[in-house]
Amino acid sequence: GRVAVVMGGSSAEREVSLDSGRNVLAALRSRGVDAHAIDGIPALLDALRAGHFARVFNILHGQHGGGEDGVLQGALESLNVPYTGSGVLGSALSMDKVRAKRVWQSMGLPTPGFAALPRGADAAAVHAAAREVGYPLIVKPACEGSSVGVTRVFEEARLDSAVELAARYPGDLLMETLIEGDELTVGILGRQVLPSIHIVPKGAFYDYDAKYVAEDTQYLCPGLQGEAEQEIRRLALAAFDALGCSGWGRVDVMRDRQGRNWLLEVNTAPGMTSHSLVPKAAAAAGIDYATLCWRVLETSFK
Ligand code: DAL
Ligand code: MG
Repeated sequence: GRVAVVMGGSSAEREVSLDSGRNVLAALRSRGVDAHAIDGIPALLDALRAGHFARVFNILHGQHGGGEDGVLQGALESLNVPYTGSGVLGSALSMDKVRAKRVWQSMGLPTPGFAALPRGADAAAVHAAAREVGYPLIVKPACEGSSVGVTRVFEEARLDSAVELAARYPGDLLMETLIEGDELTVGILGRQVLPSIHIVPKGAFYDYDAKYVAEDTQYLCPGLQGEAEQEIRRLALAAFDALGCSGWGRVDVMRDRQGRNWLLEVNTAPGMTSHSLVPKAAAAAGIDYATLCWRVLETSFK
């Protein structure tokens, strides 16, 4: 049947999603799939009610119309339309970094120390929480992607502007211990765990620019060797399972200077742009981009 590739939407990651979606659409068509682009959830629901599509390839990123936070998944469940990737619970939990961290902590899985604050918390509460977390720390909106609104804070004098930036996005604020070391990420495709990628940004960290604009970010894949590589893959799969995720996704991890891994977050509709990570990891495992898209589409056959 016809496949809707839903992309774009209304989150802060709209442009990234359109880029991902166009690539996915072309790849599925190259494999003979009758795939069509749909922009955003309202247009998708109209098309589904009109009976235009048999299944959905979800490549929306982010929350609030972004399609990665469980809302779209619930709508599709209620319409009985198969879709790629995680269900309602895994999507919703992964979108909320604070709740995801609490689940991991409760299971003894390693994640950096943190404090969570509601938006609009007063400055005294913010500063007290930050002192408890300790500097350096990283301030993030709890429910965004692609590093939007994220600032590394090395001294208290810089805290207010970091909080102000994060507070421009909906949801709680997350202040997390900054792990100094290497950024790694692990893609998951069905039950296959892909080789890790070690990301080496030219700037201080892997921010929005390093993700989608810069051509000088370096990617090492596999990111680790031997037992260390096996260990990070096991941890990534455990983290993914802990949040009730399924289908496919990508687990972001910091590795400190002592070689300890710290879970940051799970992305349940990870980027599929030409700069993105899952396509690179898949390629290293011998899975070309079109095959990757096909395998992701297969996750809707459940
Ligand atoms: N949130 C972006 C799309 C990613 O994880 O790749
Ligand atoms: Mg993310």
